[in-house]
Amino acid sequence: MAILNIMKENEPVLRKISKPVGEITDRTITLLDDMKDTLIKSGGVGLAAPQVGILRRIFIIDDNPDNGHNIVEFINPRIIKTEGHQEEVEGCLSIPGKYGVTSRPMTVTVEATNRKGETFTYTGTGLFGRCLCHESDHLDGVLYIDNAIEMLDPDEVE
Ligand code: NI
Repeated sequence: MAILNIMKENEPVLRKISKPVGEITDRTITLLDDMKDTLIKSGGVGLAAPQVGILRRIFIIDDNPDNGHNIVEFINPRIIKTEGHQEEVEGCLSIPGKYGVTSRPMTVTVEATNRKGETFTYTGTGLFGRCLCHESDHLDGVLYIDNAIEMLDPDEVE
């Protein structure tokens, strides 16, 4: 278990396209465990592997951040369904201190593999719908600031 260094906005690794995970190895499991520790320590809702410098199609989200944490792990995730629309405030652990309004679907369903190699689907709505899109974008080198409707003055948020 380890806390990983989170790459910041200007790091080129954040702009690269991550590669699919082939075999799930001990290294994959260690990465997932370390990402979990890193996400919980950071207080964020989601973390993608490229944010810790690993260009693999992996992200995790915490869908119960305020009450004991529930980390969901997504390997080779694919958005298979979206519904509705929302425009809400978004931030990113790689872009500390900044917030912006994004246009996202309200409800997002992702198909992925878990650490046991099993396929599952997961549906997130509201914050978690945004998060699934945001983390998926990280795997393609896209940051939310690229498509934000507007960036906010940090003093206006929180
Ligand atoms: Ni992010």
